[in-house]
Amino acid sequence: MRYPARPRNLRALLSIALLLACALQQRPASATKKSYVVYLGGHAHGRAGAALASCRARARSSHRALLGSVLRSEARARDAIFYSYTRYINGFAATLEEDEAAEVSRHPRVVSVFPNRGHPLHTTRSWEFLGMEEEGGRVRPGSIWAKARFGEGVVIGNLDTGVWPEAGSFRDDGMGPAPPGWRGICQDQQASDDAQVRCNRKLIGARFFNKGYLATVGRRQQQQEVNPASTRDTDGHGTHTLSTAAGRLVPGANLFGYGNGTAKGGAPAAHAAAYKVCWRPVNGSECFDADIIAAFDAAIHDGVHVLSVSLGGSPADYFRDGLAIGSFHAARHGVTVVCSAGNSGPGAGTVSNTAPWLLTVGASTMDREFPAYLVLDNNKRIKGQSLSRTRLPANKYYQLISSEEAKGANATVTQAKLCIGGSLDKAKVKGKIVVCVRGKNARVEKGEAVHRAGGAGMVLANDEASGNEVIADAHVLPATHITYADGVTLLAYLKATRLASGYITVPYTALDAKPAPFMAAFSSQGPNTVTPEILKPDITAPGVSILAAFTGEAGPTGLAFDDRRVLFNAESGTSMSCPHVAGIAGLLKAVHPDWSPAAIKSAIMTTARVQDNMRKPMSNSSFLRATPFGYGAGHVQPNRAADPGLVYDANTTDYLSFLCALGYNSSVIATFMAGAGDGHEVHACPARLRPEDLNYPSVAVPHLSPTGGAHTVTRRVRNVGPGGATYDAKVHEPRGVAVDVRPRRLEFAAAGEEKQFTVTFRAREGFFLPGEYVFGRLVWSDGRGRHRVRSPLVARVVNTKKKHISIA
Ligand SMILES: *[C@@H]1O[C@H](CO)[C@@H](O)[C@H](O)[C@H]1NC(C)=O
Ligand SMILES: *[C@@H]1O[C@H](CO)[C@@H](O)[C@H](O)[C@H]1NC(C)=O
Ligand SMILES: *[C@@H]1O[C@H](CO)[C@@H](O)[C@H](O)[C@H]1NC(C)=O
Ligand SMILES: *[C@@H]1O[C@H](CO)[C@@H](O)[C@H](O)[C@H]1NC(C)=O
Ligand SMILES: *[C@@H]1O[C@H](CO)[C@@H](O)[C@H](O)[C@H]1NC(C)=O
Ligand SMILES: *[C@@H]1O[C@H](CO)[C@@H](O)[C@H](O)[C@H]1NC(C)=O
Repeated sequence: MRYPARPRNLRALLSIALLLACALQQRPASATKKSYVVYLGGHAHGRAGAALASCRARARSSHRALLGSVLRSEARARDAIFYSYTRYINGFAATLEEDEAAEVSRHPRVVSVFPNRGHPLHTTRSWEFLGMEEEGGRVRPGSIWAKARFGEGVVIGNLDTGVWPEAGSFRDDGMGPAPPGWRGICQDQQASDDAQVRCNRKLIGARFFNKGYLATVGRRQQQQEVNPASTRDTDGHGTHTLSTAAGRLVPGANLFGYGNGTAKGGAPAAHAAAYKVCWRPVNGSECFDADIIAAFDAAIHDGVHVLSVSLGGSPADYFRDGLAIGSFHAARHGVTVVCSAGNSGPGAGTVSNTAPWLLTVGASTMDREFPAYLVLDNNKRIKGQSLSRTRLPANKYYQLISSEEAKGANATVTQAKLCIGGSLDKAKVKGKIVVCVRGKNARVEKGEAVHRAGGAGMVLANDEASGNEVIADAHVLPATHITYADGVTLLAYLKATRLASGYITVPYTALDAKPAPFMAAFSSQGPNTVTPEILKPDITAPGVSILAAFTGEAGPTGLAFDDRRVLFNAESGTSMSCPHVAGIAGLLKAVHPDWSPAAIKSAIMTTARVQDNMRKPMSNSSFLRATPFGYGAGHVQPNRAADPGLVYDANTTDYLSFLCALGYNSSVIATFMAGAGDGHEVHACPARLRPEDLNYPSVAVPHLSPTGGAHTVTRRVRNVGPGGATYDAKVHEPRGVAVDVRPRRLEFAAAGEEKQFTVTFRAREGFFLPGEYVFGRLVWSDGRGRHRVRSPLVARVVNTKKKHISIA
């Protein structure tokens, strides 16, 4: 359950650092050569059979021949290629000069060529908060856990930093064997004994992919002790995410005693498989496209049902992005891919992982807090949160100063305000509590800066953008993290008061916090800048201060000097919310083995809720009303997702038509489908098609004409209830936009029937806000209140023509 908002130094997972970390890109192995991915679409050979090996060998030699024709030497091509993708994904990764890469991209068989970029990595309480268990950990009767037998028989994989197999979450006592047809392996036989990951009946697969990483950072810089050639997790992120999705029950899990309870993953009876694609130590773990594609190709082959992918870079065209390519082939072969929306919020248009075949997850809070109060000499108490292990002696007041006041001689005011390492004057800080402002460097790094300067404690005050989003971190000194409003009040008090003093109370675990959930400020936001006709993110789930298993090779802050070791760690980020939904997808797969990835996504989205535990519309971290650009369809409700009533399904044909609508032509599309066999290869692009017609569980119309012209989209729903049913449409119109649904009633004579309907949008002249996004919803309900199938509606009235992406 960990998501990267933890205070590690510029780790991708850090909420504030995710975007910053995007800045780091590939580093060339030589002055001019760089590594590239050459994507050729799909393969024409199937999964099994004696012919497979020879097909794969043929694919490999065709890659050499293709590159050889450009380099005019097959021997040079052989040296340049470091991956041939030969199973489901067709393509290769190679080290090339820029002009060679450009020439390869002009080859008629090539779909795209793009640099092998690095992407940053984007408990105990959360399942109860999601209504799956009662207080005290009893499974709620009728919950999805009961229906899905905790995910028995399902395999959930992750693409991440590997796994710490000794974690209690991966014990296999009482587990059955891997499902029939499982082809995964434990790859680490070559690794030294202590680096080796050994599998068991719980952890049934462990593979690592490091050639793309090595091609980029260069072997010389590789540090064997930090990056052993094994699947072992030296970072902690991968162990946290995989145990959140599929960890076993571990009683007495806590961090320094906080949050004590039984840790468990979303699908605790499911099998787990780790695909390590992220490597240290270049500015925190980074995950390279060439490795990501290789891992997807292997995971499809191995037979995973659900993949959890808590990483991603800045939004990119689908076929220039390893994650979008890999997940397209995964979805085509029935694998549900769940990924994080990114930690680049709260600005507009920051969401990544925007492809419609992905289930993209934002992050929000739950109702557990770790309060630690700052008590001032005037007896005023300011509530903050922390997971510091060290505490200040009771009943002793410390002098309080702002970090600005403690500015070192060689530092700027901004550096001092933010408590950047080395910016504070030891003489002014010694023995005091220092108030630092959030932003730029990691939250725990600020604590470290105060600690190194001799401070007794830290108060971390939010900046305006973070609002009320308070995160409990395992700070290295007594500390508490407070809201923006409280920070403003506190700093004003310090300015006005000579020799102000106070103390910080010891944190404790508190439940039933209100309001909850609300959106985390770090959670990346829509609109989708790649295809605005597809609303992203799709859903939100708990991603703040999530407790889950951790590695034995890093401290809870992830900082180099942190030599504390913990079995469980609290982390925050969309990296943590993503595996919650991956676990739930695994449960749905167990309940409905025949459902497609799109049906699973639809069930999760249309049953989500948009109210918090005060029965108010869910808010953002300024405690103002949040929108679908933050939470997508809403906050996940697993028990309801098991019985959604209707689903919006989509298959590969639908995704290909969607790609046609974006401007990919039939001949490019044909390359993706190679391998469908039985004459399915040919996908004729339909004559008139728009991306908003993809059968998606939400509807976005970003280019509505201001003069009242109608814009109509179509959708299909399938009845997945037990028998015949009648559904009526109810619409909440977006402000200034009229919405008409036809027909308004859908009658299904039997289970499995599919019906089509249209939704027509029209700007109400004089009432709309030009250029602004407005939000509404469509609800299909079957009258008896049993099923309410909810879809967000998003519209924008603008006077401009649509832009289509082009294939570069
Ligand atoms: C880490 O990232 C920073 C900022 O992007 C960059 O200047 C620095 O060179 C990077 N360090 C390494 C070791 O790549
Ligand atoms: C955690 O809870 C368990 C069970 O209630 C208890 O036995 C254990 O002592 C607790 N541990 C801590 C550190 O509070
Ligand atoms: C200021 O100088 C000290 C001592 O030389 C150094 O450790 C620190 O990094 C410097 N701080 C900044 C912000 O440059
Ligand atoms: C919350 O929403 C309001 C209104 O849309 C916006 O002004 C504010 O910046 C948002 N705050 C955050 C932290 O997203
Ligand atoms: C995909 O779904 C459509 C509509 O339900 C159907 O016509 C088509 O045959 C399906 N394609 C495949 C490859 O199953
Ligand atoms: C399809 O697009 C590719 C790449 O833009 C182009 O080379 C090719 O000629 C096009 N094919 C057709 C049939 O239009």
